[in-house]
Amino acid sequence: MNILILGGGGREHALAWAIRQNPKCDRLLVAPGNAGIAQIAECADLDILSRSAVLEFAQENAVDFVVIGPEAPLAAGVADALRAAGFTVFGPSEAAAKLEASKAFTKEICDACGAPTAAWARFDAEGPALDYVRAKGAPIVVKADGLAAGKGVIVAMDLPEAENAIARIFGGAFGEAGAEVVIEEFMTGEEASFFVLSDGERCLPIGTAQDHKRVGEGDTGPNTGGMGAYSPAPVLDEAVQAQVMDEIIRPTIAEMARRGTPFQGVLFAGLMIENGRARLVEYNVRFGDPECQVLMMRLGGQAFDLIQACAEGRLDEVAVNWAGDHAMTVVLAANGYPGDYEKGSRIEGLEGLADDSFQTVFHAGTAEKNGQIIAAGGRVLAATARGESLADARARAYALAEAIDWPGGFYRRDIGHRAL
Ligand code: AMP
Ligand code: GLY
Repeated sequence: MNILILGGGGREHALAWAIRQNPKCDRLLVAPGNAGIAQIAECADLDILSRSAVLEFAQENAVDFVVIGPEAPLAAGVADALRAAGFTVFGPSEAAAKLEASKAFTKEICDACGAPTAAWARFDAEGPALDYVRAKGAPIVVKADGLAAGKGVIVAMDLPEAENAIARIFGGAFGEAGAEVVIEEFMTGEEASFFVLSDGERCLPIGTAQDHKRVGEGDTGPNTGGMGAYSPAPVLDEAVQAQVMDEIIRPTIAEMARRGTPFQGVLFAGLMIENGRARLVEYNVRFGDPECQVLMMRLGGQAFDLIQACAEGRLDEVAVNWAGDHAMTVVLAANGYPGDYEKGSRIEGLEGLADDSFQTVFHAGTAEKNGQIIAAGGRVLAATARGESLADARARAYALAEAIDWPGGFYRRDIGHRAL
């Protein structure tokens, strides 16, 4: 098969790495890709938010199957355009991608299907939103409704912070994404992520993970896209997974189907777990980055069989073949990230690193210049490994990270601290 992956981050390198191992894969194309992906696939510079550009490229290259990595092309209806032209696509329609693209929509779905989540209210004007937080008090959570690159959520620990967040969002800090504001009860507990494939009707859990959102060790400093992850997440034990499937995932999938907008793709549930019960924090309609790196490290080549069955509506025909492994990924980011950071610094020492089914370094923001790998983004590399225990996986992942010679970057040394 000729397989096209849209995206160019660590998540897409991990997808390409796993898909490449599946014997069904003949030709692998990735748009736009990055310097690491270019070592295992053909990269094409393409505007992946343009339906016509993606469609034309898929037709010209006789693509059989498309995997959409990030949320932006999903929210822009790229999956719909490809499916309308007869392509098989892994990823939800624009209508189903609203589960990530609108926080108020997700809350309405939760209410409609009885899924446990934080109490909430929505506002399209500043005055009533301010009255609401003054009545409720802090801590309280203020969210821009739409896609804001992970920056649209303010967990306000006191009232002035909440008032300030409301003023900033309605003042246009997030553009169109902030036309509406969702205000939520502050939930306490431990956060974890659950990944479930759905073909619109059936559901297949494919793993749990825990991310590290803060830039600094001990979960300090500003939020990032994610500085490291591990899988499985012990807090999501079998009993909690069963509760999440029964009370959150299956009801959501059924409600989406009932509305005539079935969800097909990977549903990434962000959960808050307290006293052995989970509540939904948010949905994403794609794999997490860097959670995808640990899931692909654990699944290997079978990931494509699962993804294909999901896209073809036959999830009942497949099962996950777990090796029982643990995986960890450590993100190497450019100095200064998530604030201003420099691009173009040279990365040495990547050649000759251990690279097999137990460990590899995925590229995120990298580019090649005169045969040299350089940093071209905030999150740049993801040193990823698996092992029989989380401690094994950690030892391998950190051995890779330490062997990379990159004075322009840094990484957290405590990934996995909660589980270890
Ligand atoms: P989201 O983008 O909705 O996942 O929010 C980003 C982060 O904000 C989450 O991962 C949580 O750490 C935190 N958060 C979001 N909503 C809540 C809530 N209702 N209570 C407590 N923390 C929250
Ligand atoms: N690592 C969190 C996300 O991908 O949304």
